[in-house]
Amino acid sequence: MNQINNKAITLAFTGASGAPYGLRLLQCLLAAEYQVHLLISSAARVVLATEHDMKLPGNPQAIQETLVEYLGCDSEQLQVYGKDDWFSPVASGSAAPKQMVVCPCSSGSVAAIAHGMSDNLIERAADVVIKERGQLILVVRETPFSTLHLENMLKLSQMGVTIMPAAPGFYHQPSSIEDLVDFMVARVLDHLGIEQKMVPRWGYDSR
Ligand SMILES: Cc1cc2nc3c(=O)[nH]c(=O)nc-3n(C[C@H](O)[C@H](O)[C@H](O)COP(=O)(O)O)c2cc1C
Repeated sequence: MNQINNKAITLAFTGASGAPYGLRLLQCLLAAEYQVHLLISSAARVVLATEHDMKLPGNPQAIQETLVEYLGCDSEQLQVYGKDDWFSPVASGSAAPKQMVVCPCSSGSVAAIAHGMSDNLIERAADVVIKERGQLILVVRETPFSTLHLENMLKLSQMGVTIMPAAPGFYHQPSSIEDLVDFMVARVLDHLGIEQKMVPRWGYDSR
């Protein structure tokens, strides 16, 4: 794969509830002309089928073709890797993008990342971003949180990882599920430094 510009990011979907957050974030990153390295866990495929009626094939190349068609993006802009694609750019600090978002992020992936397991490409890519002191954002979804979940998130936060629970606010007066999804995605984009007009910034823009 050629690097098409210096705006590259790793995005991972894991098996927490909240597939629409991940899909919307992917759409926004592509619209912002980012080159997206996408990783999808097998549990995330189950969640996508359950929550979004989107049945993705198992093979990364076929997933890529399906998403390129679904999103109408340029195939150079979106690259999907499998869980054992150890030769992909995201697996090494010498090539991995400096920014990564796991959205949605399961409590299982939080635990694996907090303990540096690197047992699949999502865990390895997160480990690389942490060791390279890049920006890692985890959009975690679980309720309630157990002490173990909270300890894992604290450990990650102390390492500079941003923990953004999938907990949309209501002060923008959402009138649809899309508004709630956009609230979360807008906050992630704000943290990534990507301009967004989906949700007005508090105290600056009025509705
Ligand atoms: C429909 C569905 C919803 C789920 N929701 C959550 C969730 O909100 N949070 C969570 O931590 N796990 C959730 N799980 C369980 C995870 O998918 C499971 O622990 C899985 O092993 C996570 O693997 P991954 O992190 O590699 O994707 C859900 C599973 C399914 C099938």
